[in-house]
Amino acid sequence: MTQRRARLSIVIGLTLALTGVALAAPFAPNMQPFGNPSGVHRTYSTLGDVDLGGDFFLSLGTNGRRCSTCHVPGHGYGLGAAQARVLFDNTDGTHPLFRPHDGANSPLMDVSTVFARRQAYSMLLAKGVFRVGIGIPASAEFSLDAVDDPYGFASAQELSLFRRSLPATNLKFLTHVMWDGRQTFPGQTMTFNLGSQANGAHLGHAQARQPLTDEQRNEIVTFETSLFTAQASDRAAGNLTDGGANGGPMFLVDQPFRFRINSPLSSTFTPRVFTIFDAWQNATGTFGAARQSVWRGQELFNFRQFAFGTQQVTCSRCHNAFNAGSDSNAQFFNTGTAAANRRTPDMPLYTLRNTATGARQQTTDPGRALITGRWIDVGRFKIPTLRGLAPRAPYFHNGMAATLEDVVSFYDVRFNMGLTAQDRADLAAFLRAL
Ligand code: HEC
Ligand code: HEC
Repeated sequence: MTQRRARLSIVIGLTLALTGVALAAPFAPNMQPFGNPSGVHRTYSTLGDVDLGGDFFLSLGTNGRRCSTCHVPGHGYGLGAAQARVLFDNTDGTHPLFRPHDGANSPLMDVSTVFARRQAYSMLLAKGVFRVGIGIPASAEFSLDAVDDPYGFASAQELSLFRRSLPATNLKFLTHVMWDGRQTFPGQTMTFNLGSQANGAHLGHAQARQPLTDEQRNEIVTFETSLFTAQASDRAAGNLTDGGANGGPMFLVDQPFRFRINSPLSSTFTPRVFTIFDAWQNATGTFGAARQSVWRGQELFNFRQFAFGTQQVTCSRCHNAFNAGSDSNAQFFNTGTAAANRRTPDMPLYTLRNTATGARQQTTDPGRALITGRWIDVGRFKIPTLRGLAPRAPYFHNGMAATLEDVVSFYDVRFNMGLTAQDRADLAAFLRAL
């Protein structure tokens, strides 16, 4: 693709991203291009063109919310924080995205004026995070010793946890549903888990009075599991399927996946998780330099070793699902994203006390521990899929990394990786091309 055509398709994509569903077309074309800060992404649905009259796109609750309010097709079925700011400005903060029970910093905040709404929804506007309320389980190994909530709401009955929406696409590669896995049930199928998740979202986010019918659950889950999203072209590297590369969503559809397909605990584990840019090692021509950078980023992701506690790991050891980057091993990890030393003044800080030992630790989000009640799980989160990242900044459960460069810097600093400026640029170029 020439630079000019690439730029033209970005313009078309941006236009579509802004108008999107508002056109109220009955169907959106399959593989519709959407512009994003570093190029264009597309979603392939195995069901064909996207039925905008489907339950995923309908307001089925009481507050005007749809699944697509927070899982926006033009944002890789996640929500870009930039999109939230545009919506706020266009509607003075009255769009259904802005609802106090889970959109505001506290459900009790004043939302009666535009000025008040700007304060009340400041976390959603700044980082695209929603307030998830979860209490400390009765059986927990810990209690809540102290709460420092800038919004004066959180308690042991309901901690305020500020979390990003996860993409409702590429669900084939999931082993856990939700950041803390709370919608993954032992012995149940992923279809059941996702149906339960959809119903929870319907009753919670959309404040519905009646649960979804089985038919509605099935329709939603059938739709969302038909979706495969990936970056399709990159401003610097061009079309991501050119020159023998296997980027873009089509190659994801047939990408094999199963539980423990590449478990780091098995003897067959390979760190060679991403292979889609193998052909770009010696790329030449207009995009040659940028393509080689993407290839080097892929190599760093797969093979660069660094210490995680007492273990030597690679990015690919945790993000081990082939060409998807989720975790086939279904584990939860504490990488320090919710640690007290990363806390910014807009976040609540919780002091937890181990009931047996009296030990204390502080965190902005106990994560998995609020589901299992286990002390060891404090600050642990599931590993999200790494495709279609470019359209849904910011990153991590709490949106603390504004860009993919910030994600790379976080890992570099946190784990003393010793990356050079070139390494960091290469890794970020690779992540942008996913
Ligand atoms: C108000 C915004 C909002 C609405 C509306 C919403 N979601 Fe979500 N969704 C979220 C957030 C936030 C999370 C992550 C919450 C967490 O992990 O604690 C999430 C997580 C998910 C996940 C988990 C993906 C994964 O990787 O684990 C799926 C699937 C999903 N939503 C589907 C839906 C469906 C289907 C609907 C409509 C019935 C819906 N959502 C409505 C905000 C929303
Ligand atoms: C010890 C396991 C582990 C290792 C090693 C690891 N990650 Fe992660 N990664 C995670 C977990 C857990 C999360 C979710 C953390 C959170 O959101 O708080 C995550 C989140 C991410 C995200 C954000 C995705 C999103 O949707 O917000 C990106 C991007 C990412 N990792 C890239 C990398 C890169 C690049 C490396 C190597 C430098 C790496 N990871 C190494 C476990 C790991």
